[in-house]
Amino acid sequence: MSILKIVKYPDKVLKCKAIALEDIDASLIKVLAKDMFDTMYLNDGVGLAANQIGISKQIAVMNPTGSKQDEIVLINPEITKKRGMSKMEEGCLSLPGISSEVKRANEVEVKFMDLEGNYKHLKLKGLPARIVQHELDHLNGFLFVDRLNFLKRKTLLKKFGKRGKA
Ligand code: CO
Repeated sequence: MSILKIVKYPDKVLKCKAIALEDIDASLIKVLAKDMFDTMYLNDGVGLAANQIGISKQIAVMNPTGSKQDEIVLINPEITKKRGMSKMEEGCLSLPGISSEVKRANEVEVKFMDLEGNYKHLKLKGLPARIVQHELDHLNGFLFVDRLNFLKRKTLLKKFGKRGKA
């Protein structure tokens, strides 16, 4: 088990669109995914994108419940449909200590490749749909604060900047 270092805002890697995985080396990707899950669980997260550990590749892991059978590895994911709207409180392991309500679609359909190299298509709603949108944002170089209005973002980032500096 390896715990990876989580990249924090404002590191540039978080602002870059991650590159699609091609020629997938299954054994390497499995080790990476396992390490990403371990790192996510240790930090009480429900999702983690590869650029958050400094790897600018299209891979993210998520688990809305914490049960092993609910683990999802998203390789080269793409949202094909969005439906409805909901507001939910969101935080991010790259922006520890701040959170905000964020508006997102309530239901999504996502296609991606799994660890075995099979194409998958899932319909998700509620928390799992929210995590998929948050992680895909990461892979496209966006953070949850980028979904907020200017003033709200500025206030939160100021609070984040003051963390631990009392
Ligand atoms: Co995040």
